[in-house]
Amino acid sequence: MADKRRPATTTDAGIPAPSDEFSLTAGADGPILLQDHYLIQKMAQFNRERVPERVVHAKGGGAHGFFEVTEDVTPWTKAAFLSGKRKRTPVFLRFSTVAGELGSADTVRDPRGFAMKFYTEEGNYDLVGNNTPVFFIRDPSKFSDFIHSQKRMAETNRRSNEAQWDFWTLSPESAHQVTILFTDRGTPRSWRHMNGYGSHTFLWVNAAGQKHWVKYHFKTEQGIANFDADEAKAMTAEDPDLHLRDLHEAIERGDHPAWRLEVQLMPFEAAADYRFNPFDLTKVWPHADYPPMTIGRLVLDRNPEHYFAEVEQAAFEPANMVPGIGPSPDRMLLGRLFSYPDTHRYRIGPNYLQLPINQPQVPVHSYNKDGAMRYRHDGSQPVYAPNSFGGPAADPDRYGDPGWEVSGEILRSAYTLRRDDDDFGQPGALYRDVLSPTDQDHLVANLVGHLRGGVSAEIVARAVAYWRSVDPGLGDRVAAGLGLTAAAPRG
Ligand code: HEM
Repeated sequence: MADKRRPATTTDAGIPAPSDEFSLTAGADGPILLQDHYLIQKMAQFNRERVPERVVHAKGGGAHGFFEVTEDVTPWTKAAFLSGKRKRTPVFLRFSTVAGELGSADTVRDPRGFAMKFYTEEGNYDLVGNNTPVFFIRDPSKFSDFIHSQKRMAETNRRSNEAQWDFWTLSPESAHQVTILFTDRGTPRSWRHMNGYGSHTFLWVNAAGQKHWVKYHFKTEQGIANFDADEAKAMTAEDPDLHLRDLHEAIERGDHPAWRLEVQLMPFEAAADYRFNPFDLTKVWPHADYPPMTIGRLVLDRNPEHYFAEVEQAAFEPANMVPGIGPSPDRMLLGRLFSYPDTHRYRIGPNYLQLPINQPQVPVHSYNKDGAMRYRHDGSQPVYAPNSFGGPAADPDRYGDPGWEVSGEILRSAYTLRRDDDDFGQPGALYRDVLSPTDQDHLVANLVGHLRGGVSAEIVARAVAYWRSVDPGLGDRVAAGLGLTAAAPRG
């Protein structure tokens, strides 16, 4: 007897379904009939439930919230969502690990993604960062190689410490990020207990057209809390979805996590002769040179109702920048501007921006049209521009592209080196001046543990030299931990 309080099951076309339990057969013991459209719909739809997982950052979780401005930043940017104190903008944030697949554990050593979508009155602003202020490489042409070295090998389909150290030691620009990764910041206790960074340098432009370079740091109000290597390993077995659960439960009990947004601002002209390349993603700007200033607060206060619809189909793209914010000459950022919308068209489909989680909360007046699964349209609007029939018209005076002057021969080369540009200075200072003695001990132990995991003698020797370049004492400690006591001659 059907329960009258429950809605009747329907097919996906809304037709009342005949049964939740039985297929349509010729007699109770006979064959299934091809006319059982409902059975066929169920099986066919099931076969198509997955979209490809993200090629990186596949495992993650997210939540809704808001960003509130706490300082007047109109001297530096005309971005409307930053235009006044106490102004609030809805936000969706997705956290992730990088290398693991969709079902992998939350607590493995890895950077964590910190991807934000601000639904502003001038369209979506996406800030797609990590929990680290720097990255492993400085040229986008190395990104797929880097990721390949971190993921599964061709023959064994297993990850390889040998490949990771091979790539890192052949790419000395990785030293700063690898140092951070092998401290306990590589194994955060939860997503709530870590910072988020825009990492790249961006351009801010104010209403008068004046420009500044900017870096974003979202500082956790929950405090930094990490696992040590043993705790992280135990958690990987105990609860592989720990971070997913932690965030969901915190929000459900009303314990809404929050981050303070700090920015560092560099006058536009100062970049030209700063002592190192301020657009190099492997470097931080020392606070002594450019002190951070708190300008806002991010709060997460609402769980998604449907993981697939809101988290799996969320599509972030660094190219989504609103008026008043632009890119910098950071090559990594410029490479990413192409990469993300391209992967979304492949992973989700060409009309991914029409999905509720991705669509802007302002009207869209575009001349792009059609494609698979499009449902939003502009009625009888003209389909080309320019036109004489009242279609939308761009306003280049008001919304021109923010930029900078360039000149030069077309070539393939490293960035021009400046006085203080090197690969090992900042990680060395991090090791010596920022890490506590306990942090230093854990870093050494974590490096030794990883290098013991199937890395050949030749690459171990290269790794020891790499750590001696970061700091001679650190390199010696790593060598000693590996039973290679003889320090390389210095000087
Ligand atoms: C040239 C360099 C890079 C390329 C080509 C690249 C490419 C990609 C691709 C293809 C995805 C998958 C996106 C999806 O399927 O939704 C992705 C995800 C992601 N990347 Fe990158 N990436 C680069 C560098 C970076 C850097 C430097 C950061 C952080 C500072 C970063 C942070 C993220 C985050 C957080 C996600 C996950 C976004 C989400 O939660 O959906 N990536 N990246």
